[in-house]
Amino acid sequence: MRLILDTDARTLVTEGDGERHLVDLYSDKAFELLSLHWLQVGWNQKYTYTFSWLGRPVVQLPEDLIRIQEVVWRVRPDVIVETGVAHGGSLVFSASLCRLLGRGRVIGVDIEIRSDNRKAIEAHPLSSFITLVEGDSVASETVAAVKALAAPGQTVLVLLDSCHTKDHVLKELEAYHDLVTPGSYIVATDGIMKHLAGVPRGRPEWRWDQPGNAVEEFLARHPEFVQEQPSWPFNESNLRLNVTHWMGGWLRRLSA
Ligand SMILES: C[S@@+](CC[C@H](N)C(=O)[O-])C[C@H]1O[C@@H](n2cnc3c(N)ncnc32)[C@H](O)[C@@H]1O
Repeated sequence: MRLILDTDARTLVTEGDGERHLVDLYSDKAFELLSLHWLQVGWNQKYTYTFSWLGRPVVQLPEDLIRIQEVVWRVRPDVIVETGVAHGGSLVFSASLCRLLGRGRVIGVDIEIRSDNRKAIEAHPLSSFITLVEGDSVASETVAAVKALAAPGQTVLVLLDSCHTKDHVLKELEAYHDLVTPGSYIVATDGIMKHLAGVPRGRPEWRWDQPGNAVEEFLARHPEFVQEQPSWPFNESNLRLNVTHWMGGWLRRLSA
């Protein structure tokens, strides 16, 4: 695709697949097109590898953190389960929300928690809000250990950010969805991968081997979940779509 940005004419032109579209540069549509391209370039340049939260590296787009904060404020989970710990930044982020809300705790699952990361997480001022479970997130013993930590009747939110292959995400969705309480969400992060197959650091197989395809298959089997970007509690614009790496990843539980 060709994207032609003309700041003098104030237009954005897209050309590809035999089609040509021209939009006003200062329009919601142009913002969406530019955002997608910005996300692709930013992912390639490792923009998300430049942030930390209260001292721990967090590998997320800041906008996704703001959006999950909006959901945590509304859902007020007792337990936030996160697969994919890495340096612990997203766990510390969730823990800081729990501390501010006076409610909730965080369970972090990773196949390998490096000793330096474990030490730093365990020494963090918010460590009392965090429980670490080391193991493959889809192994039955790991799933059982996580489920044993969430008491029945508690409100649970689940964030899947470990291995992003279709197969693994589908297994995680099947393994953890029953923890999610009605009104809360399970989030399959990094649906952006389908838009990254053609960028220099991307891989061609991401056209199909990515979380979006797992979500599709999961939803076909689970009518109790609906794919839905959480509504924005504040919006004085005409914009509607998250600028996100978690495209199509928000699944809200409708019923038990
Ligand atoms: C993208 S990083 C997580 C980033 C973290 N959530 C954050 O926001 O900073 C992915 C993590 O998933 C872990 N991982 C990969 N395969 C896994 C598996 N099968 N089970 C559990 N964790 C896995 C990796 O060890 C890595 O630490």
